Amino acid sequence: MGAMSWPSESELNTIRTKVAEMSGKDMKEVRVVVSPYRICPLGAHIDHQGGIVSAMTINTGILLGFVPSDDSQVVIQSGQFEGEVRFSVDEEQLPRIASILNGSDQVKGASSPLRQGSWGHYPRGALYALQKRGNQIKQGIIGFICGAEGLDSSGLSSSAAVGVAYLLAFESANNLIISPTDNIEYDRLIENEYLGLKNGILDQSAILLSSYGCLTCMNCKTKEHRLIRSPERDHYSKKEKELKILLAFSGLKQALITNPGYNSRVAECQEAAKILLQASGNEGLEPLLSNVELEVYEEHKGDLDPNLARRAEHYFSENSRVIKGLEAWASGNMEDFGKLISASGLSSIQNYESGCEPLIQLYEILLKAPGVYGARFSGAGFRGCCIAFVDADRALDAATFIKEEYPKLQPELASQIYGDGMVRICDAGDCARVI
Ligand code: GLA
Repeated sequence: MGAMSWPSESELNTIRTKVAEMSGKDMKEVRVVVSPYRICPLGAHIDHQGGIVSAMTINTGILLGFVPSDDSQVVIQSGQFEGEVRFSVDEEQLPRIASILNGSDQVKGASSPLRQGSWGHYPRGALYALQKRGNQIKQGIIGFICGAEGLDSSGLSSSAAVGVAYLLAFESANNLIISPTDNIEYDRLIENEYLGLKNGILDQSAILLSSYGCLTCMNCKTKEHRLIRSPERDHYSKKEKELKILLAFSGLKQALITNPGYNSRVAECQEAAKILLQASGNEGLEPLLSNVELEVYEEHKGDLDPNLARRAEHYFSENSRVIKGLEAWASGNMEDFGKLISASGLSSIQNYESGCEPLIQLYEILLKAPGVYGARFSGAGFRGCCIAFVDADRALDAATFIKEEYPKLQPELASQIYGDGMVRICDAGDCARVI
């Protein structure tokens, strides 16, 4: 098992067969976009402020099988949801924000892209982004999209994985060669402009830039990135895996775009930045916390009201954890890396005030689970799951511990988790690609 364990040949063939049936074309002509889910060990909630983040992908995610439609028609079916999305690439796509905000639209947007009635917004959003940046999209696609069962709305960024998948499919069908950097921007247009979520570029950067065995570090202000290999992870080829990524599900499913928490935290960070920039005579700069010098923050943090002060404290402390974490990762020090992840989780609870009781309980259980180096909420932390880095030899014991402890605290939510799905043990993945 490893990055290459997903997708399996049988998963690919299922998708290819489906698209061949839909299009009447030969299976050999079907291309498949592999678009993995991402995790962010350190750097939570600071991408939208231009902070430095760390990320990697896991070995599961979205598969989008497609063939060029030979005309302007787009026809998409979903493995999870009924119905069919149909439109023409000649149609001008307009942002959905207004209809989402006034409730007339069923979009669950960023956090639940495949939900019934809303999943069609992503191919349209991808077309919107491509058109907006002047790309000529003449050819549609006939496609079939499928997410990993049970991982929708879990904070693993299925929305960015879906957005990226449609971008890559349209580009491939139209023979466009687009750089990862441009696709990061296009996915930002889908989320920020088309759907109205004020998120940063962490998710799509992880999906487009990650490489198996490396931690991806992205400076969200300069847009520079690097891949950092851990010496410990180089042992993998010799010793089987020593490290696993554990996903623990709370049973909560709530969408980011229908939860005002995400955008209101972004606004609070901006308000804090504005006050700090004014205090230092820099009001001309864009109100982002990355535009505030650390010394200015230290000198003027007393000017912020307590809520804003906590948001700013999260930003500055998280940036410093990321810097320390990159060093720990590069030197293979998983103990230190893990402690920083857990500290990041605590700051998300205490300073950023994301999360909710079940997620906080799950986080605390993970901290006590055998072999866990560190844990935190995944994604925005308003729903979904927690992630942990765990010693591979003890991953099963950790999973057993979680499955015993969580239902004691949240019996109802735990009972809603299908089958054995409360805990998944994953490996790192690779970047999104068309095969
Ligand atoms: C969501 C957003 C990202 C990022 C994370 C929190 O996944 O889409 O931009 O802000 O939350 O780190």
